[in-house]
Amino acid sequence: MRNNREHRRELMQKELDSCKSDRERNILGQYSTPFLLACDIVKYVLSLRNPDDPIRFLEPSIGTGVFYSALTEYADVQEALGFEIDAHYYRPSSQFWSDSGLRIIHGDFFEQMPRSRFNLILANPPYTRHHHLDSGLKQRLRERVLSQFGIGISGLCGLYCYFMILSSAWLEQEGISSWLIPSEVLDVNYGEGVKRFLTDKVELISIHRFDPEDVQFSDALVSSAVVTFRNSKRRHQDVVLSSGGSMYSPRRRRVVSIDDMDAAHKWTPMFSMEDPIVEGLPLGHYFKVSRGIASGNNSFFILSEDEVVERDLPKEFLQPILPPPRNLKETRIMEDGSNLKCRDRYYLLSCPLSLDEIKGRYASLYRYVVEGEKRKVNEGYNCSRRKPWYCCELRTAAPIYMTYMGRGGDGSDVFRFILNESASIVTNSYLMLYPRNEYKYCFSDAGIRSSVWRILNGIPKKRLTACGRSYGGGLFKIEPKELESLRVPELEDVLKPLQKSLFDQ
Ligand SMILES: C[S@@+](CC[C@H](N)C(=O)[O-])C[C@H]1O[C@@H](n2cnc3c(N)ncnc32)[C@H](O)[C@@H]1O
Repeated sequence: MRNNREHRRELMQKELDSCKSDRERNILGQYSTPFLLACDIVKYVLSLRNPDDPIRFLEPSIGTGVFYSALTEYADVQEALGFEIDAHYYRPSSQFWSDSGLRIIHGDFFEQMPRSRFNLILANPPYTRHHHLDSGLKQRLRERVLSQFGIGISGLCGLYCYFMILSSAWLEQEGISSWLIPSEVLDVNYGEGVKRFLTDKVELISIHRFDPEDVQFSDALVSSAVVTFRNSKRRHQDVVLSSGGSMYSPRRRRVVSIDDMDAAHKWTPMFSMEDPIVEGLPLGHYFKVSRGIASGNNSFFILSEDEVVERDLPKEFLQPILPPPRNLKETRIMEDGSNLKCRDRYYLLSCPLSLDEIKGRYASLYRYVVEGEKRKVNEGYNCSRRKPWYCCELRTAAPIYMTYMGRGGDGSDVFRFILNESASIVTNSYLMLYPRNEYKYCFSDAGIRSSVWRILNGIPKKRLTACGRSYGGGLFKIEPKELESLRVPELEDVLKPLQKSLFDQ
């Protein structure tokens, strides 16, 4: 879909290109991005951004402004700036965009001082090969990369490598940068410094590799990739590697850990490696997985041991409950909870009696319930739907709990399985694994309990993250049904179903 303005821009581009020889265009890397490809890149990066964040856009080597044209098709742009070194493109282009929000500056991008920061960079930089670069310029650019990032760049790198790295000085913290570049840099030896920048200095989000036979530029024989990163550094993040087709519907797609992307190795083989398919029974065959209890107001219903003593609350309405995952350091809770530190012992308050009965029999509890009503706890969403409002859902303890949400990813301990031998239940910041009827008997055996717990904690983190979902900013989460679908062949040797009578078959 092309609007009238885009149609005119494209005609202008064609006309300007036709006045130049191939050699001239080669030296200044003047191969324009097809509009539909620019739209694909725009839609992709917009899906990574908070839509409420006003866009401040930079295109360091703008030509006739195809990315700006595509961007304004899909979003409002608060501020936009472009640089163009060649007056042949600069003059008609700046005139063309003169009544828009885009400002174009005539000059060499590398001569500019970053004056303001931008939160979005989209670019198809000049691919100018190293032998067309003036040796003095090359030396200066290499020194800048070394002094700003501590990275040695090979003298064989094309101009686009310096564009991609040095433009990040113009990028705000958390700003996104997406680059259409030759895919060879992912594999050649001289690409090591560029790859080190991507793995160590920014948060690499994704790389899409177009199929080599699917040449993106009708007039330049290169196979291309789109490299997208965020200006922040988080450890252990996952990177999406896709290839073939379009960025939106690639033929292949894999998620790999940044820790597995070694800058000294070729990256292309990583795009096609298949993750081994894990066969075997899913976890849901052995366990029913539920979220922990939603009390409706943890600060009212969950009390520390000290508070219980202080308020003299009756024991029969208190059920032990584990502290939230961030405070729980133990991965095994003993039967009497004795390995929990005092400050980690909590209780869930829940009482089925009417207020009159409580008033007659439990003065201290009555005072607390009345205090809850003064604090308007009874008006909360969950409490207002319960009768009486201070009676929580009844739950029994489960032998295994799991932490299912957090930042981290493959190498982290976001997902921990906790062996619970106590009567403690958990809040909905955990998942509870209840054995199915035919496997319940296994859990009365301490040896089997421990083996199951060890097996679960030994599941490769990659298998776990693949069954859950990741959100922006490295947040991972597994829902109960997703966990039930996780294949755990390792459990087959340990958990044997209760033998049924011959007549039950
Ligand atoms: C590959 S073209 C891309 C143009 C446009 N961004 C697009 O995608 O169609 C690269 C552009 O960068 C310009 N250019 C080359 N070296 C430059 C430099 N040092 N500073 C600014 N622009 C430069 C070229 O003249 C050319 O117009």
